[in-house]
Amino acid sequence: MKILVLGSGGREHALAWKLAQSSKLQELFVAPGNAGTAKLGKNIPIGVNDFEAIKAFVIANSVDLVIVGPEDPLVNGVHDFFLEDKKLKGIPVIGPQKSAASLEGSKEFAKEFMMRHHIPTAQYKSFTAATINDAYTFMENLNAPYVLKADGLAAGKGVVILDNLEEAKAELRSMLLEEKFGAASTTVVIEEFLDGIELSVFVLTDGKNYKLLPTAKDYKRIGEGDTGLNTGGMGAISPVPFADKALMTQIEESIVKPTVEGLKKDNLPYKGFIFIGLIKVGEKAKVIEYNVRLGDPETEVVIPRIKNDLVTVFEAVANQKLNELDLQIDERTATTVMTVSGGYPGSYDKEKEIMGINAIEDSLVFHAGTKLLNDKIVTNGGRVIAITSYGSDFKEALKTSYKNVAKLSFDGMNFRKDIGFDL
Ligand code: AMP
Ligand code: GLY
Repeated sequence: MKILVLGSGGREHALAWKLAQSSKLQELFVAPGNAGTAKLGKNIPIGVNDFEAIKAFVIANSVDLVIVGPEDPLVNGVHDFFLEDKKLKGIPVIGPQKSAASLEGSKEFAKEFMMRHHIPTAQYKSFTAATINDAYTFMENLNAPYVLKADGLAAGKGVVILDNLEEAKAELRSMLLEEKFGAASTTVVIEEFLDGIELSVFVLTDGKNYKLLPTAKDYKRIGEGDTGLNTGGMGAISPVPFADKALMTQIEESIVKPTVEGLKKDNLPYKGFIFIGLIKVGEKAKVIEYNVRLGDPETEVVIPRIKNDLVTVFEAVANQKLNELDLQIDERTATTVMTVSGGYPGSYDKEKEIMGINAIEDSLVFHAGTKLLNDKIVTNGGRVIAITSYGSDFKEALKTSYKNVAKLSFDGMNFRKDIGFDL
């Protein structure tokens, strides 16, 4: 099989690493890829939203399967683009169609979906500029903190949580009246604050059947002790130690099943990953968000725990035969620690030479933001390299990840030294 993966982060490197182990793989392309994916397949200089260029490449190279990493092309309808094209429609795409991708593309759509299918989530109401006075009244009747969510995609920055009512009102004004997040904040969802611990559940569905993938916990803040600005994710652990049988049963029965059934009832075509962000409040989990893709860096711990041939898994999704697949999960814990550029998640420099990659032993190296420059591997993003390790528990796995992170260096390199601190 000739496979094209769209994306350029640690998630796509982890997917490429796993696909490269399949005896069914004939040729692997990654668009645009990074210095890590370049070692596993061919990097193609095409952007993930350049559908016409993707089409030309897929046809010219007889690609048999396309796997979409990030949300953008899904929300922009890349899967529909394939289905609507005479030459492309027979080529399976892993990732939901546009209508279903709205679960991530519109927070309001996701909330309405959860209400319709009785899926536990925070109480909410959505507002526009025309209803801003109602929003003030709504907030005055809520307890702090106030959770404001831009409806549309805002590069992971669209959720603002504030303790002070006046500051929250000012934030709402800047979102609704001053387009703080552009068109993404013409509608804002205001919701109840859920006080608890976060975890994520990953589901793979073919639109009829589903498989639960390993759980993971991500560390989003830049600073130790979960302080400072939000990032894309500074590290992850799988499985989540507190996700015991009772919690997983509640999640599967009251969240996963109604989600997959809801997609069918609402006629939302879905062949791909569903990433469900949860907060455990007391003994029960509630949904804070849907993402229509895998997480990054969660993929760097979830994919290494899947024992099956990944090409076979994706074939089962494409053919709606996931029910026939016996998914095998590695019992070990996997952890990943992300190294990032100095200044991230604010502004940072690129093209810093990365040293020490070859010295890494007993860990997997997943490139997130790297590229080749004159035969050297240099930084090319905020998140640079994730170091994934296995262990009998998260402490043992983290020990190995940190031992190897210490061997890496580049100008300004930063990482969190406390992944797992709250477990
Ligand atoms: P999101 O961009 O939807 O992932 O939200 C960013 C972060 O905001 C989440 O990871 C949570 O930590 C937090 N968050 C979102 N919604 C809520 C909520 N209703 N209550 C508490 N925290 C929330
Ligand atoms: N790590 C969070 C995300 O991928 O959205």
